Amino acid sequence: MPFLRGPVPLAHLLLRQVVKAGDRVVDATCGNGKDTLLLAELVGDGGQVWAFDIQPAALARTHQRLGAAGLADRVTLLACGHETLSTRVPPPVCAVIFNLGWLPGGDRTIITEPATTLPALEGALHILGEGGLLLITCYPGHAGGDRETEAVLAWAADLDPQRFHVWRMGQLNVDQGAPFCLVVQKATSHHAA
Ligand SMILES: C[S@@+](CC[C@H](N)C(=O)[O-])C[C@H]1O[C@@H](n2cnc3c(N)ncnc32)[C@H](O)[C@@H]1O
Repeated sequence: MPFLRGPVPLAHLLLRQVVKAGDRVVDATCGNGKDTLLLAELVGDGGQVWAFDIQPAALARTHQRLGAAGLADRVTLLACGHETLSTRVPPPVCAVIFNLGWLPGGDRTIITEPATTLPALEGALHILGEGGLLLITCYPGHAGGDRETEAVLAWAADLDPQRFHVWRMGQLNVDQGAPFCLVVQKATSHHAA
């Protein structure tokens, strides 16, 4: 059983539940590649992962991590902003993960920004298949993360409840600024009817 300290292990628990061999999934912020590696393991030989980042250092670290695990051939690394997601990844995919903020161990002045994050989230909803999951880790305590978190929360709260099931998962016994995870599931047409 993983220790559920912070939102990332919880997001991974959901991914392990949902993503199966042969699936197609997206890591919208590959960073150091930890989420990308998990996705690459879960989709198996017949699956496909698309992983985005705007920083060469992040793509290099992810490439190295995947190579060390022998899983690089399951992942298409894209050196471009996730706001282009819906034009680069053919639908449907069963999961899209965003881990917002800065690259751990990298330049903290380069952060995800609402002006690109919000179109990217819209793009993610567009390519998700029925029942698919969008996972977003938000960092309200980081410089710039407060503004972005507010924008993402407002966007998520406004999604049509007939079409999307929207959840907020955050630890209660931590600081107000602690990161938390939003989960958006695309409803099936059966539920939407
Ligand atoms: C918190 S880190 C991701 C951590 C990563 N998931 C991991 O497991 O190590 C956020 C990443 O988002 C990237 N980023 C910022 N703006 C972006 C954009 N428009 N498109 C794609 N990635 C972006 C940053 O370069 C950074 O590497």
